[in-house]
Amino acid sequence: MAIKLGRPIELRDAPKRQTTPASPPLDLTIRPRRNRKAEWARRLVRENVLTTDDLIWPLFVADGHNVRNPIASMPGVDRLSVDQAVRDAERAAKLDIPCIALFPYTEPSLRDEQGSEALNPDNLVCQAVRAIKKEFPDIGVLCDVALDPFTSHGHDGLLEDGRILNDETVAVLVRQALVQAEAGCDIIAPSDMMDGRVGAIREALDAEGFGDVQIMAYAAKYASAFYGPFRDAIGSAKTLTGDKRTYQMDSANSDEALREVELDIAEGADMVMVKPGMPYLDIVRRVKDTFAMPTFVYQVSGEYAMLAGAARNGWIDGERAMMESLVAFKRAGADGILTYFAPQAAEKLKGQS
Ligand code: PBG
Repeated sequence: MAIKLGRPIELRDAPKRQTTPASPPLDLTIRPRRNRKAEWARRLVRENVLTTDDLIWPLFVADGHNVRNPIASMPGVDRLSVDQAVRDAERAAKLDIPCIALFPYTEPSLRDEQGSEALNPDNLVCQAVRAIKKEFPDIGVLCDVALDPFTSHGHDGLLEDGRILNDETVAVLVRQALVQAEAGCDIIAPSDMMDGRVGAIREALDAEGFGDVQIMAYAAKYASAFYGPFRDAIGSAKTLTGDKRTYQMDSANSDEALREVELDIAEGADMVMVKPGMPYLDIVRRVKDTFAMPTFVYQVSGEYAMLAGAARNGWIDGERAMMESLVAFKRAGADGILTYFAPQAAEKLKGQS
């Protein structure tokens, strides 16, 4: 490859008027731009493809009937009464989105220190699972396992003197998982980051005849500022005392993520997840390369809020930024993505928008 350089331009030689530059003195054999010359050529060499099969759509469920309550910090996302969650499940089915995830907004009067409402077989999540599976048995339903939507202190586990009780929490999470499996949930997704919970849940599910219920472990979940809008959505932002850094991971760590993932796989996780998404693409890549497991990534509420907020202000092209962020997860090695953009992305992929 010969690269000829022209005479360096000196400032005093600079032309007063702008003129068309002469042909550049380059003699290149290899020109990567050839493969980018037209859309058909770019399609031909494209390495990663996003499809609707890659999407899991998280929904927020709240009390009431025929209610869609906007969440201020997540423009475009609503809290839904159960009947409306069923309508969104229908929309997901029509868009070929394979799976939805359910999160409850629990009335403050139902929250207590122990998160007891998590064990109520008729709580909002269980109601929503039953209603959705009844109308749309072929859509996958994922339920989060953690106590934060139900505790008065907003933590994922039981507290004693300000400390999280790991093993006592796991015992409650096992019961929560069973209640959700009983309601018809297809994938149990422990998001609490307690030690040993995946193994304990797997054992209980198998013992109780839920051998087909999958576990998607929030295996590498970081203590993140990007969960802020989610905590608004489930109503735990104001009540949360302190932070979650004794159980969620330190964002400076990477090797530790591999140890967490390895443990969850050994304990019986069918799928593993990295969370948040965009700031942790390096972790997604390491996890996929190391374990070759079905690997998921959660584009969390704060990531959604940044993109949707900037788009609403006209600061970025929202649709392009959305698709770019989603294909980035595929490029990093993710098999699937939990994202609040799921319906918009699916519409775009199906050519409906
Ligand atoms: C609860 C849970 C959280 C999220 C999913 N499950 C919040 C947290 O750990 O505080 C965050 C999802 C999001 O931000 O979109 N254990």
